[in-house]
Amino acid sequence: MRIYAIETSCDETGIAIIEASGGLKNPKFKIIKNFVASQIKIHRPFGGVVPNLAKREHLKNLPILFKKIEPLFKKQKSESILTVTVGPGLEPALWTGVNFAKEIFNASKKNNKKIKFIGSNHLEGHLYSFLLPGEKKEKINFSKIFPSVALIVSGGHTILLKMDSFDKWKKLGETRDDAVGEAFDKVARLLDLQYPGGPEIEKLAKKGNPNSIPFPRPMIHDKNYDFSFSGLKTAVLYYVRDNKNFSKEDVSASFQQSATDVLVSKTIRAAKEFGAKSILLSGGVASNKFIRKQLKKEAEKIGCSFFAPKTKYNQDNAAMIAVAGYMAYCRNKKYKIEAKGDLDI
Ligand code: KG4
Ligand code: ZN
Repeated sequence: MRIYAIETSCDETGIAIIEASGGLKNPKFKIIKNFVASQIKIHRPFGGVVPNLAKREHLKNLPILFKKIEPLFKKQKSESILTVTVGPGLEPALWTGVNFAKEIFNASKKNNKKIKFIGSNHLEGHLYSFLLPGEKKEKINFSKIFPSVALIVSGGHTILLKMDSFDKWKKLGETRDDAVGEAFDKVARLLDLQYPGGPEIEKLAKKGNPNSIPFPRPMIHDKNYDFSFSGLKTAVLYYVRDNKNFSKEDVSASFQQSATDVLVSKTIRAAKEFGAKSILLSGGVASNKFIRKQLKKEAEKIGCSFFAPKTKYNQDNAAMIAVAGYMAYCRNKKYKIEAKGDLDI
């Protein structure tokens, strides 16, 4: 069935159409359209996302992107879903998408009796994003996924889940302070790099020595599956304050190594404890090739398959929201159609 999706939780306006089939047992997705209007340049001078600017940009971009799919949406007569991200995210930004979706849903109802309107969880979008078609068109073997351990790493979240199926999971742990993406962004600011900091740090780290500065690996030996990244960021702050001639490359490489060690170590420990057949990685930080490589390598060492979405689906987009909408529909999960900034997974 056709899924129309809208995403406005942070600083990317996304509208997508996908074709979904197979239900929870054998979900398959084909991208029909996937548009993203990025606001990075607008927020860059402020060093981070400014909620009211994000809201203004979403209001401007939504009708422009919707125009591109409007003919298809209007022609739609068979069973379909319209879905919108209801959270988590910045509430002023979320509301723009929710209100826009309500408007187009109400306008379409007369024409199309078979369209359903459902809310999507942004984190479920990231979680399921590996199901979107990948670079190599390789088929996912669903018998090799569950039980699975999933790591979601973004600008707002660092969450570790144990998954028994596509609709049954348990949160093992999460960050107690900063999300890992937030730590990349804050460290980038300390180094005078532009927003978003993750890609900038990754670039510089390639030229640095990851073993040159012994930054801490917070909570790496703790028995639980929680994370903490604010101490690591503070260690970088003290280091750059106390070492006038520091190398940005070495700081980036050493910081990235510390963050990666913690993420990989806890994920692998969870995979071992729960006998996981696979490890899933998603969220904006999953675009980091160093983290992807390290986690894949360690996953394979313990006999786990490793799945991560194609790079462009790690960044916020509406295609992953369409997947989350379809899966929520299959799970009979009904989110209220209203913005909820702190929605959990
Ligand atoms: O998932 P996302 O697009 O938005 C949220 O839902 O938060 O994630 C954005 C975060 C930012 O903190 C950004 O710095 C980080 O993902 N990020 C990266 C990389 N690319 C984006 N972090 C590390 N390395 C990267 N290559
Ligand atoms: Zn996100």
